[in-house]
Amino acid sequence: NRRTTVRDLTLAKERGEKWPMLTAYDAMTASVFDEAGIPVILVGDSMGNCHLGYETTVPVTMDEMTMLSAAVVRGTSRAMVVGDLPFGSYQEGAVQALRSATRLVKEAGVGAVKLEGGERSLHQTELIVQSGIPVMSHLGLTPQSVNAMGYRVQGRGDEAAHQLLRDAKAAQDAGAFAVVLELVPAELAAEVTRSLHIPTVGIGAGAECDAQVLVWTDMMGLTGGKMPKFVKQYANLRATMGDAAKAFAEDVVGGTFPQAEHSFH
Ligand code: KIV
Ligand code: NA
Repeated sequence: NRRTTVRDLTLAKERGEKWPMLTAYDAMTASVFDEAGIPVILVGDSMGNCHLGYETTVPVTMDEMTMLSAAVVRGTSRAMVVGDLPFGSYQEGAVQALRSATRLVKEAGVGAVKLEGGERSLHQTELIVQSGIPVMSHLGLTPQSVNAMGYRVQGRGDEAAHQLLRDAKAAQDAGAFAVVLELVPAELAAEVTRSLHIPTVGIGAGAECDAQVLVWTDMMGLTGGKMPKFVKQYANLRATMGDAAKAFAEDVVGGTFPQAEHSFH
């Protein structure tokens, strides 16, 4: 009944075993995924869009990430909890990155941190890893750079493909234990997966990655609106919750709730 370790994930790649990762932003949701046996839970800065009502991940702060990561850690006992380093918490350099990563470990209790960028985050990754904090790298579409790159498939064309391979190698050489590949052509993600000894975690990156991640509110049908092509919807929580709220409202307005069984005498 111990938490998933970096070594478990390295061994899984050696054995050719795939594994799932889901995001979570609160203790209750995280406990559901932990009980379901999800081995790695990501407190993604997607909390910005999914949980905090921002338009992008860019405004998410270290205070928000620390508070919600701590909740996810409290709600779990078996999963490795990975906390995203938010935009602005590591771009200044390795020392700032280490300070932010250390805060997430000490105040929230995460087992690892994730940051965006391969070559461009090399020094940050090296120093955090050397300090004993596992780092997950995030390549391809990196949403913290939305203002520069927009939201579209990355790594198309020879030059972009070579850069992605260089970034993946840079992350591995810097000591990252896994690499997220977001919105990357399946063939290129497969090539990156074959060329690394650390696992790749795909999102919109085809079937050949060693692991797959989805944003929980997307895959449960809670987010609402048009979903990207790579999201498979496993539930329709938005309809389920909306129907329950309407039924409660009808009961209250119509005077059919509460009944005697819900009352004290
Ligand atoms: O913030 C997030 O949810 C992520 C995943 C999509 C990998 O970074
Ligand atoms: Na993220």
